[in-house]
Amino acid sequence: MSDIKNALDLVRSRRSVRTFDGRALSSAELDDILGFANSVETPYDLPFTWRILNAKENGLSSPVITGTDTYIAGKMVRVPCAEEAFGYAFERIVLYIQSKGIGTTWIGGTMDRAAFERAMKLGEDEVMPIVSPLGYPAARMSLRESMMRKGVKADVRLKFEELFFRDSFDTPLQEADASDLKDTLEMVQWAPSAVNKQPWRLVICGDTVHFYEKQSKGFVDGKGWDMQKIDMGIALCHFACGMEAQQRRVEFSLKDPGIPAPAGTVYIASYRIL
Ligand SMILES: Cc1cc2nc3c(=O)[nH]c(=O)nc-3n(C[C@H](O)[C@H](O)[C@H](O)COP(=O)(O)O)c2cc1C
Repeated sequence: MSDIKNALDLVRSRRSVRTFDGRALSSAELDDILGFANSVETPYDLPFTWRILNAKENGLSSPVITGTDTYIAGKMVRVPCAEEAFGYAFERIVLYIQSKGIGTTWIGGTMDRAAFERAMKLGEDEVMPIVSPLGYPAARMSLRESMMRKGVKADVRLKFEELFFRDSFDTPLQEADASDLKDTLEMVQWAPSAVNKQPWRLVICGDTVHFYEKQSKGFVDGKGWDMQKIDMGIALCHFACGMEAQQRRVEFSLKDPGIPAPAGTVYIASYRIL
């Protein structure tokens, strides 16, 4: 990310693309994407396996995607914090792909999951959280895509004072008072999330920003896998990208500061700005 304006523009220009124009990506483009994916690191320091998959060759489908046969998918060993780590890594990849003018959509639910997992040769101890189509956006969205966007209000986000707080959850942060964190917080605000729930809540205490997850019902599966923790990884990624774009160094930690949090809101991680 060259500077904060470019980073913010990149985040603001991204949207889920579900209708593609049918043009296939070249093998050079796909190699470049895979090369970038393989270079991504996260503060959780966990390994991933990334693959480009062809829908026709592997019998893959998603009912919400039209106009492309190409997908990217990732898998990893199911360990604590896998969700946040995956969210962080995949969003880095999504933003890179966006910077090339290529469209993506995070897909965790609306796909033939069994077929994708077979294509990824998923092991017993592994999880394949998300896949994304890859391709060039069509000039017009399908009716289904427009309806989906309306259904989750995909073009809007919660306000600063609903997402961000100063010192404790009792003091909402107004956008006008965010001073030199404003652009980075705006990048967090505009992150994508499952069903656009935006579960991230940030409490800023001096030079440290604590990330919390406001949990909604229905996102944890029978094995304890929490889809909204993937959203939290995305929020952490956007914050880190904003800091990088301003040449500000950060230190990551998992030390819960013990700030009293509302019921159903849990601590995830912190960034100290150095
Ligand atoms: C973890 C995660 C899972 C998602 N799963 C799906 C999905 O299964 N199907 C789908 O069409 N969109 C899915 N989305 C996309 C969201 O609906 C979308 O990001 C959100 O509505 C905001 O819209 P935007 O991406 O256009 O900004 C998912 C997003 C995230 C972050």
